[in-house]
Amino acid sequence: MKRSPAFCLLAILAFSSAAANTRGTDTQLVKTTVFGKLKDGREVRQFTLTNNRGVTMQAIEYGATIVSLSVPDRKGKIEDVVLGYDSLQGYVDDTSYFGAIVGRYGNRIRRGQFQLDGQRYSLTINDGENHLHGGRIGFNKVLWNGTVLDDPAGPSVQFRYVSKDGEEGYPGTVQIAVTYTLTDQNELRIKYEGTTDKPTILNPTQHSYFNLTGDFTRTILDHTLMIEADAFTPVSKGLIPTGELQKVAGTPLDFRTAVRIGLRIDDADEQLRLGQGYDHNWVLRGNPGQVRKVAELYDPLSGRLMSVLTDQPGLQFYSGNFLNGAAKGKKGIAYQRRSGLCLETQAYPDTPNNPQFPQVTLRPGQVYRQTTIYHFSTR
Ligand code: GLA
Repeated sequence: MKRSPAFCLLAILAFSSAAANTRGTDTQLVKTTVFGKLKDGREVRQFTLTNNRGVTMQAIEYGATIVSLSVPDRKGKIEDVVLGYDSLQGYVDDTSYFGAIVGRYGNRIRRGQFQLDGQRYSLTINDGENHLHGGRIGFNKVLWNGTVLDDPAGPSVQFRYVSKDGEEGYPGTVQIAVTYTLTDQNELRIKYEGTTDKPTILNPTQHSYFNLTGDFTRTILDHTLMIEADAFTPVSKGLIPTGELQKVAGTPLDFRTAVRIGLRIDDADEQLRLGQGYDHNWVLRGNPGQVRKVAELYDPLSGRLMSVLTDQPGLQFYSGNFLNGAAKGKKGIAYQRRSGLCLETQAYPDTPNNPQFPQVTLRPGQVYRQTTIYHFSTR
């Protein structure tokens, strides 16, 4: 049968519109909206990822920040479990790193000093006499560029940022990409990739504060926590590691079996005194470079369970000790002390000054990679 050119054109149009619809349906799992505008007029977009179980994650281009993560409790009630703000201004003014990607170096570097290939570098001092979380304008205070990705694992958004040579004192121009994917197994998968044009150091992490009750007027002291670690890196004043590894056995930092966080948090213990609670790096079991389960956080009230998987050597467990009610968060709630906790997957603090720790040097031609997964279920 002979078909007219008009019929062929129609057929092509019908086919391409079907294709567009399929794509459209896929990308509807990621909704792009405008979250706000920075003072200089730049727009900050928000990406809302929804999986096929109704779990949602929202992230914005400012700081590549996770602004909400809503997961079911044991009765199926979906609630937000991460602290944050209702508006962009909240994140601009924030001093607690709510939900942000921090870096280049997540955690502290002693006096902001380090040496690489015999060269001395001085980083911004922004935490007492030390450098913390990338400095004054770290990865959390810059505008990233978000793109929706086509990922068979689930709705996905990638944020990219170019950190210029010399930024906050760091050598080399670093190109970094952070990808958030929400799978249908209720996992938030976070992948990092970074390259540099000069030798540098790179150790980014995710700084979400979790409160699995979904009620941010409560503390996290009744959550239980398990950490797959036999040792931690003890600190001295200013939370700088002494360089030793200390066994957790017999200390309030022993989380090898699940323990209620509040049980020992105020014990008369030198490490807890220095951290004003938990604010330490645990030396994770298993092989860095391999994704393995490293921690389990559970809220008996809601039944929400969060497993943390990572390929990193360390985990900073910070129990929100510095929250003091000053930060007015979502729905105007003042975040009181210990109303959220962070489980930051990373290299150990102050690694560049501790050659015995797993190193964080990145050289031209190499690719920095990290995979971390927060997996949600109920019990
Ligand atoms: C990290 C640090 C804490 C604190 C918070 C931000 O997790 O370990 O000491 O600085 O960030 O307030």
